[in-house]
Amino acid sequence: MKKGKMYVCIAVLAPLLLLGVGYVHRLEGTTPVSGADTLLLLLPDDIDFNTPAVRQWLDAASEEGLHVEPIHDSDFLDPLSTTHAAGVILPDQIHRNANDVLIGQLYRYVRTGGNLMVVYDACTWDLNGHFPPGDSRLSTLVGVRYALYDLYTAATMERTRVTGTSAAMRDIGIPPGSSVVVNVSFNPQTGGAKPCAIAVGPGIPDVGVTGSATALVSYAADIQPIFNSSCTSCHPPQSGLDLTPGVSYGNLVNHVSLGYAPAIRVVPNDPTNSVLYRKIAGTGFGGRMPEGPNPLPQVLIDKVRNWILQGALNN
Ligand code: HEC
Repeated sequence: MKKGKMYVCIAVLAPLLLLGVGYVHRLEGTTPVSGADTLLLLLPDDIDFNTPAVRQWLDAASEEGLHVEPIHDSDFLDPLSTTHAAGVILPDQIHRNANDVLIGQLYRYVRTGGNLMVVYDACTWDLNGHFPPGDSRLSTLVGVRYALYDLYTAATMERTRVTGTSAAMRDIGIPPGSSVVVNVSFNPQTGGAKPCAIAVGPGIPDVGVTGSATALVSYAADIQPIFNSSCTSCHPPQSGLDLTPGVSYGNLVNHVSLGYAPAIRVVPNDPTNSVLYRKIAGTGFGGRMPEGPNPLPQVLIDKVRNWILQGALNN
């Protein structure tokens, strides 16, 4: 295989690498063993070439048009072996354990011009299934310290949110789903069910979204009358809050609370963070309003909630 083709092979193998973080090592300025067009998949002696895990590698390779052949450690170590190859793949999971002889041979292989692809933490265990202290014995070969299990213990791996443009997600091969966060803002102006769909990306079915909306609440006709009958006896002047017609809206929407600053009295679309809603619902920010033994009927509390959800309009 020619040098140029080797680069192509490594590029095509990239999806396989995504099974874990991969390290590709290639010695610059050296010549790969000539005449070989085969990549070797290095396997422990006790692994049968027909096990499903091995077949997965071979099938994926042949789908990409690559010639990958499995080989056992003992054949790779055999000094008389005449095997020539464009490179050796060290698969994670299938090849966890390695003795020092094999590790030494891998160093030698690369030093003499061989190409080695180390997938994630392949060969990081010794023969007893223990991680060697410190880091992977292949760290120096790979050129980066990794498998620092002593140092990071349980924090070695962490699930975390991955965000990016859909193009970037496609490029790195992360399928959408739990990894793609979509914020949908639903702001209906009339009642009823409102279906809509989110286009995730080429080749991926749209995600359906359904929301049910209540009729648009009117501030003047629905909300202000609540204040008139239950609140204006105390507001003004209590808490610097004037709930009389004409001034109430300006006292509430995006207005910092006097008693609970920096909280806002009404945050449009967000009842949970609105002091007004939480106080009439009795779910926070001091005592329930209206002050006294009688809370507002649930239907009126819901009206205020819907008014906020619909954007707290001055309509
Ligand atoms: C009997 C008097 C009384 C009535 C009636 C009353 N409130 Fe209050 N309100 C108070 C007092 C006193 C406070 C200050 C103590 C507190 O924050 O709980 C207050 C505080 C508030 C606050 C906090 C304002 C801020 O920024 O600190 C809001 C919001 C509020 N009331 C809304 C209402 C609403 C809405 C009604 C009617 C449904 C109402 N109140 C009825 C006495 C009253």
